[in-house]
Order: sequence, then C-alpha cells, then structure tokens
Amino acid sequence: MIKLSHIEKRFGDAVILKDISLDIAEGSVTALVGPSGGGKSTLLRCINLLEIPTAGALQIGDARLEFAPGRKIGWPAIQKIRRQTGMVFQNFQLFPHRTAIENVMEGLTTVLGWPKAKARERAMELLVKVGMEHKADAWPATLSGGQQQRIAIARALAPSPQVLLCDEPTSALDPELSGEVVDVLGKLAAEGTTMVMATHDLRLASRIANVVVFLEAGQIVETGPAKSLFQTPQHDRTRQFISSINAAQTL
Ligand SMILES: Nc1ncnc2c1ncn2[C@@H]1O[C@H](COP(=O)(O)OP(=O)(O)OP(=O)(O)O)[C@@H](O)[C@H]1O
Ligand SMILES: [Mg+2]
Repeated sequence: MIKLSHIEKRFGDAVILKDISLDIAEGSVTALVGPSGGGKSTLLRCINLLEIPTAGALQIGDARLEFAPGRKIGWPAIQKIRRQTGMVFQNFQLFPHRTAIENVMEGLTTVLGWPKAKARERAMELLVKVGMEHKADAWPATLSGGQQQRIAIARALAPSPQVLLCDEPTSALDPELSGEVVDVLGKLAAEGTTMVMATHDLRLASRIANVVVFLEAGQIVETGPAKSLFQTPQHDRTRQFISSINAAQTL
C-alpha cells in the first residue's frame, strides 16, 4: 500500500502540487491524467523522491517519510523508498553501451550486489515476461521504440519493486509499437503489479487502470473508476478535458 498525505511541491514560489492525498492499493493500477503542466510527472517523481516534496507525508510499505520546508531527507531514507519503486520514462533511457540483458541486470549487480549469474537468470525471466528474450544480446540502438520500452519495463521490474511508476510510457511510440507496450502493461496489471501511470492515452487508461486521477494545476479535481470518470465525469473541467481528448483521438 502506498499512501500520499497532503503532498505539496514548490519550485521557488511556484506551487506545483497542492495538498495531494492518494491511497494506492496493492495490485491496483492508477492512471494520472490531465492537461499538460498539471503536475503528473512531478507527482510521479515525488513518489520515488527524484523530487523531494516540500510538505506532506509518503508511505510505501513500511517506509514512511514526512516532509517539511527546510527539512533535509537523508540519503539512506531516500534509497529505502527508491528501492521500492521502478520507473519507466517516455524516452526509455536505456544505457546505450549495454546490451538489452545487461540493462536489465545493471541495478541488480551494481545496486543490490547480486552475483552476475543470478542477475542474468532473473533478467532472462523478465525478458521472457516482456516478450524480448530473443533480443537479449542486442544493443538498444538496434531495437524499435516498442522493444526498447519493453526492455526498460523489464529493467524497472528487476529488483521486484512494490510499485511500477510509468511516465507517458507509450507517447513516444507510433500506434502499432504502442500496442506492444500496452499489451505488456496490461499483462503486468492482470498479474497484480501495482502501477501508477501518467498518460495522455485515455484508451490505455481505460483499458488497464482501476482508478483514474484527474490532475489539473497541481490539484486533484476528480478521482474514480476509469469507466465512470470517462463516461460520467462529475466536474465540468473533467468533462471538458475528456471531450477535448476524445475529439483529438478520433481525428
Ligand atoms: N524542476 C522544475 N523547476 C521549476 N518548475 C518545474 C520543474 N519541474 C516541473 N516544473 C513545473 O511544474 C509544472 C508541472 O509540470 P509536470 O511536468 O509535472 O506536468 P505534467 O502534468 O507532467 O505535464 P505533461 O502532460 O506536459 O507531461 C509545470 O508548470 C512545470 O513547468
Ligand atoms: Mg509529464
């Protein structure tokens, strides 16, 4: 279980996240949607402490941290949270000078100190899971975007994090390659992987998310099951946003 309580994030005087409280159940998929600049990426980055919230509290499993302006969070506490999260980025961010399987092994050998053989075995299991075992020894530059993203997902899952955080995992991909990645994410969701995902793709959100959070100007406007939030939104802003996206997606 992940719990965000009254999270606030400021950059200088600008308040980017305001009073965000959210409970993320184990095994659930939460989609963050909303207009550009609304704070989706910042919220994901606050969950793995790539950004330190200015105020509020974050709990992942038995690790709990409270934030306050001027309070320093020590590196061990940051690492404890970060080890429980895996992150997938829009632009994959694979290590270019490592093969696919080496990318997946990297965190296991360098951060967790696993022996190479054990890390390779775990990495191969994950490559099978994302349908990429046949490219284990390929260099990232020789792979399609969809293939690179599936390697990045395997890499993020390697240390068995409590939650997989995905920031626009399909938006750099054309529809066919995006479909491959959606299939993998759907399979992980069906297996009970806890995920939080920022996405502009409402079809992706409605296909795999249990809960959709509509975020605008750093605030949660509305939260609900995908079906009711997309079909019968309660707030005008949510309704406008959804109809604008639907119009754009059918053009
Ligand atoms: N390091 C930073 N310093 C200052 N402002 C920042 C920083 N990072 C993000 N912001 C601001 O925070 C706001 C939220 O940005 P964020 O990237 O979280 O939005 P988003 O919802 O992910 O948008 P998009 O849909 O375009 O990805 C924006 O106004 C952005 O300019
Ligand atoms: Mg973003």
